[in-house]
Amino acid sequence: MNLKRYNLINLKDTETLSFDLKELLSKKSTRQIVFLEGDLGTGKTTLAQHLLKNLGVTDRVKSPTYTLIEPYQGLTQKIYHMDLYRLQDVAELEHLGLDDLLCEPAVFLVEWPDKLKAYGVQPDIIVHLTLLPDGVRAVELAY
Ligand SMILES: Nc1ncnc2c1ncn2[C@@H]1O[C@H](COP(=O)(O)OP(=O)(O)OP(=O)(O)O)[C@@H](O)[C@H]1O
Ligand SMILES: [Mg+2]
Repeated sequence: MNLKRYNLINLKDTETLSFDLKELLSKKSTRQIVFLEGDLGTGKTTLAQHLLKNLGVTDRVKSPTYTLIEPYQGLTQKIYHMDLYRLQDVAELEHLGLDDLLCEPAVFLVEWPDKLKAYGVQPDIIVHLTLLPDGVRAVELAY
């Protein structure tokens, strides 16, 4: 795997990272799973919102905190934004049709992916965000 590091000082830097992610995602038209890892408030949703916009989503981007999964149509791909923080059990995702969704050639942006990982789902890209004491967000991008 390749590793790239970023220090995000402001939202402009999140946008720059989202452009790099878009570039990576454009290399394949198959299913791609992106794990957005990091503690509460590190900027996972903010990054997902920028990326959705870059991928051509014009709908208002909601947070999937309660719905767990929000589908979007980008310019060339379907994108599923998932937030599994409130997920009790993967059985809930099975009820939402996860197994079928994962067969689609879509991009999956997954916040709080631990339970998905435990379910056996492997990411293609991992973005790990850490909020440092000085307010800088350190990012490791593995792909
Ligand atoms: N690069 C950045 N620079 C400055 N502020 C940022 C940056 N990224 C995110 N933030 C701010 O941090 C706060 C939390 O961001 P966000 O909701 O994206 O975090 P999260 O990781 O999705 O949190 P949660 O774990 O609750 O889902 C927001 O107020 C957001 O505007
Ligand atoms: Mg979030």
